[in-house]
Amino acid sequence: MLKAPVNHVNGHQRSSPPLLSRGKKAFVVGDGGVDVSGIPASFLSHNTLAFPVQRHSRSFRSRRHSGKLVGEIKAVSGEASTAGVITTTSVKAVVTVQMTVGGVLSNLSITRAFDDIGDLLGKSLLLELVSAEVDPVTGITKPTIKDYAHRLGRKADDLQYLAEFEVPEDFGSIGAIYIQNEHHKEMFVESILLEGLAIGPVTVTCESWIQSKREKNSKRIFFLDKVACLPKDTPSGLKALREKELAILRGDGVSDGPRKKIDRIYDYDVYNDLGDPDKDPELARPVLGGKQHPYPRRCKTGRARTKSEHDGCCLTSLLNTIANADPLSETRSSDVYLPRDEAFSEIKNLSFSFKTVYSVLHAVVPSLETTLIDKDLGFPYFTAIDSLFNEGVNLPQIDSKGPLGSVLPRILKAFEDAQNNILLFETPEMIDRDKFGWMRDEEFCRQTLAGLNPLSIRLVTEWPMMSKLDPEVYGPAESAITTEIVEEEIRGFCTLDEALKNKKLFVLDYHDIFLPYVNKVRDIKTMRTTLYGSRTLMFLTPTGTLRPLAIELVRPPGDGKPQWKQAFTPCWDATGAWLWKLAKVHALAHDSGYHQLVSHWLRTHACTEPYIIATNRQLSKMHPIYNLLHPHFRYTMEINGLAREALINSNGTIEACFSPGKYSIEMSSVAYDLQWRFDHEALPADLIARGMAVEDPDSPHGLKLTIEDYPYANDALVLWDIIKDWVTNYVNHYYKEENLVESDEELQAWWTEIRTVGHGDKKDEPWWPVLKTPQDLVGIITTIIWVASGHHAAVNFGQYDYAGYIPNRATIARVKMPCEDPTDDEWAAFKRRPEDELLSAFPSQIQASQVMAVLDVLSTHSPDEEYIGQQLELTFEAVPEIKAAYEIFSGKLQELEGIIDGRNADACLRNRNGVGVVPYTLLKPTSGPGVTSMGVPNSISI
Ligand SMILES: [Fe+2]
Repeated sequence: MLKAPVNHVNGHQRSSPPLLSRGKKAFVVGDGGVDVSGIPASFLSHNTLAFPVQRHSRSFRSRRHSGKLVGEIKAVSGEASTAGVITTTSVKAVVTVQMTVGGVLSNLSITRAFDDIGDLLGKSLLLELVSAEVDPVTGITKPTIKDYAHRLGRKADDLQYLAEFEVPEDFGSIGAIYIQNEHHKEMFVESILLEGLAIGPVTVTCESWIQSKREKNSKRIFFLDKVACLPKDTPSGLKALREKELAILRGDGVSDGPRKKIDRIYDYDVYNDLGDPDKDPELARPVLGGKQHPYPRRCKTGRARTKSEHDGCCLTSLLNTIANADPLSETRSSDVYLPRDEAFSEIKNLSFSFKTVYSVLHAVVPSLETTLIDKDLGFPYFTAIDSLFNEGVNLPQIDSKGPLGSVLPRILKAFEDAQNNILLFETPEMIDRDKFGWMRDEEFCRQTLAGLNPLSIRLVTEWPMMSKLDPEVYGPAESAITTEIVEEEIRGFCTLDEALKNKKLFVLDYHDIFLPYVNKVRDIKTMRTTLYGSRTLMFLTPTGTLRPLAIELVRPPGDGKPQWKQAFTPCWDATGAWLWKLAKVHALAHDSGYHQLVSHWLRTHACTEPYIIATNRQLSKMHPIYNLLHPHFRYTMEINGLAREALINSNGTIEACFSPGKYSIEMSSVAYDLQWRFDHEALPADLIARGMAVEDPDSPHGLKLTIEDYPYANDALVLWDIIKDWVTNYVNHYYKEENLVESDEELQAWWTEIRTVGHGDKKDEPWWPVLKTPQDLVGIITTIIWVASGHHAAVNFGQYDYAGYIPNRATIARVKMPCEDPTDDEWAAFKRRPEDELLSAFPSQIQASQVMAVLDVLSTHSPDEEYIGQQLELTFEAVPEIKAAYEIFSGKLQELEGIIDGRNADACLRNRNGVGVVPYTLLKPTSGPGVTSMGVPNSISI
């Protein structure tokens, strides 16, 4: 533990320099960041982004104060002296507080004046040192040692406060610090640095909002970084505090009800806030989570259940009220609760993400609807799509010089010679490099390996391909892609049997997941859309690239019509060639929907939220695994709350712009039910399950890829191994014996809660990994970190560059194939102008503009993004072995940058290098801010 060097004091005399009184007024600093305390300004700098950084480790030139004698320390601390001799240690605590707009530094705040006076009087924060040890005689907790921290100075975005303590020797080691905020407003405390201890400076990571002492439960406990330990090793003086803090975060004993903004409670709930039945019965949506629609859990907000208020005016109103009431759904609100410390930083909140997304959705879209009155209006000709990049869309209600212009400078432009402001999109990189790339078949296939959804392609292992759906309901199960069709296409290469045997056939199979929704989607009256079940079959050519063989589109029986299905192939006649082109539009819309709903939203955003909740409820902030995981959960709950508010809600962007319409999110529940398995979220297991790799001890990473040049898999495996090595070093440091994992009660409670509550709809599945050994723990933690970092980056940050040009990857195919039960007039129209058929299948102008604006925002890195391996946490820095392991981790990630650059420069790798081909950079670990198609953040932050 943390023993301090001591001062020996005899009565009122001391051998070391006399302790002076604490004249708080002497520490008042002037405005403008000028520090008059005598402390070097360099000490106040706090660079939290650079790596490696030796933060808070410079020597502290202290300032003595006059008047206060050792006897008075006793009065503060309540410590008793022994035979008139007191041995004490001078300990200083420097508290770093972030300057926040809404916090104590708000210039607009009426309470600011009172808080400034509090600072002047030296009553800003009340700190209490907590002994790590209990009294050896009585066995009870030792009294704390208190001092008010006074304002020390200001540098950049931080403000610093200083408290000083005289710590009697019999106090024992310091284990924790209480903080109480004496201001009227909350403040964001970053850290506390303890100086004066024998082992040198010691940090306490806080990174937390401290509420004013006028709020309930505002006295907060923070444990020293160095006391991070397994529960069994918790020092005696901290045991009760460790448990109590977890109980507070769980909300133990707190009654149900709407959570307040200042609350810190982590609890679970189902997705019952996506619909808005109070507003319109049409906006009711099923509850996701539970037997009928299995789903991961979200954070509980405690809002009331929906029930429309009856205005008492008439019977019809009363009946409407009763009809609308939905006791299963939660009322919606514009401010979704999340535990206070999960909120975006003000940098991200004010300058970038939240406001940007919010602005796009709440200002741009209505403005578009004003400009484009017909919401179903498609693009009249192809060049109209291009005009989005060179002429733009008028936005009459938007002021580009206002707040929106400042957060959307990339796409919102003002032209001096134009009356209106313009939504003018950047040209996506793919189109910038090759305007006609979207038309080419090999590019269509290449993107299944190196595009923004490289997680769906799988090896064909059974022939003929068969549906597992009930043929009584959905029609004959056998695929329309027959042996004859395939052999015709691969003639000259090999036979079908050889192709199967040699692992040459691959498929995007969206048949069984979409088919049950086809008739429902086609019945939607509020938007123009359609759907099919689909399979896209591809062949691996000798050059290592894929070639499409056939696309199958299937409609189940319904409306008195039998099942309809047809296989389309690349053709050498005009009609067939156009049908092939249109079939590709449908297949891409299915891939686009599956990517957004499953590969992206479900598998990363939604599935990670229960991990975050469980980690905060069951792992103390003293727990090493909490510290390991915490950087990977940054901002995820806030962006998920925003998604529930405006993206995946009824009538949100996803429903308005994707083929399945109001069934979109419900379909992600089907995917969760049928396909999601925790063990397969581990990258190697995912590749093996899809037939894209087999175990091979002689191959790099222990896996042999089925397609050698699979850019996503090749880069991802390096990243996976780097993460796994780091996690292994970390876990092995804290779990030196096998049985420590099984006997760690916090860890076991955490894993049990993830399995049985957070992902409780899957609790009985046999595939959940057991958690008995350090190796088990490494596997579980690596998987969680991988999903939050590499997996999310691969499916998130290429969205604009690949889907920003609608023809390359439309989110919706709005009309059926012209050959599906056509009338004579329909067929004649198709024959006369096939381009019209293509344009009417594409999204409407409003849909396209909305999707492009949202994808642009979602593809953007915030200026305060934290990339993997770039942030040496204070808790890591506090332990030399962990710090060293992190430096190795960081070094390997830098090497990965070079590896990826080298691969992209290799002309032999045709799936990432070639004329007009966009290099595969999505898993390069770092990036600058903006839309860069690279950079792996620590967490799902957008
Ligand atoms: Fe995302």
